[in-house]
Amino acid sequence: MANIKVWDGFIRSFHWLLVINIAVLYFSIEEGMIELHFVAGFFAIALLATRLIWGVIGSRTAKLSALFHSPKEVFKEFKSPSKNIGHSAPGSYMVLLFFTLIIIQLVTGLMSSDGILTDGPLVEYVSSDTVDFANWLHHLNFDILFYAICLHVAAILVYKIKGKPLVKAMITGKQSHHESTNQVNTKSPWLAWIVFFALLALLAVTWGEEPLSYLLS
Ligand code: HEM
Ligand code: HEM
Repeated sequence: MANIKVWDGFIRSFHWLLVINIAVLYFSIEEGMIELHFVAGFFAIALLATRLIWGVIGSRTAKLSALFHSPKEVFKEFKSPSKNIGHSAPGSYMVLLFFTLIIIQLVTGLMSSDGILTDGPLVEYVSSDTVDFANWLHHLNFDILFYAICLHVAAILVYKIKGKPLVKAMITGKQSHHESTNQVNTKSPWLAWIVFFALLALLAVTWGEEPLSYLLS
């Protein structure tokens, strides 16, 4: 058995930060903390945008192009799990679904309003019908995202039962494989972090200034 590096530091941090981020987004709105919801929302924009950029310039296993598989490959994977490095074919569909749902959630959030005092930063540029639609979709899409998360965790458990533990690799970055390989799967993540902090700073001084100064006062 050889220990192979499959996930770089940015992918792993992205994943676990996203989990915390979504929990904060949910609980902040439940507790009526709209400013925290906005700040967490801007954090999520920087996180996802960096992940998508890293999907072009990043590690082999982070590449967006590696996420596209034919439905035939999905069925093949169900019959006999492959020993591929990176996301499996069904896993890739799940990742694409997550990216789509999160983008919808972020864009509709920017156009949503709490109907009292706080408007998303794009509300002033769109009609009131669009704001109503965005509010409606922001609510509905969150329910869909919630079911997708349940399905995702259930699938990880099924893989575990079938003898393919995936969580450890998402924590340590390493997975044990039958054959060793010289193929380099990961890159050093420093460029991703530069992009992430640059985007975060940009969002903090533009849309984030008001909610941040409220939270810090
Ligand atoms: C808010 C909840 C969650 C969301 C939104 C989420 C989202 C994602 C996304 C987007 C990926 C792809 C990573 C990438 O390529 O960038 C992923 C992979 C993964 N997630 Fe989650 N996740 C969540 C919760 C969890 C939990 C609770 C676990 C552990 C039980 C988990 C375990 C994993 C594992 C092991 C992978 C790698 C799968 C593979 O090997 O193909 N996730 N998740
Ligand atoms: C992945 C990111 C996000 C998640 C998971 C999320 C989640 C939620 C949830 C669960 C609600 C309550 C919906 C309801 O039941 O009515 C909500 C409401 C809201 N969100 Fe988000 N949100 C996200 C991003 C954003 C962003 C980026 C913004 C704007 C900067 C935003 C602004 C709002 C507003 C204005 C409301 C309406 C509150 C109200 O109706 O009183 N959200 N969000």
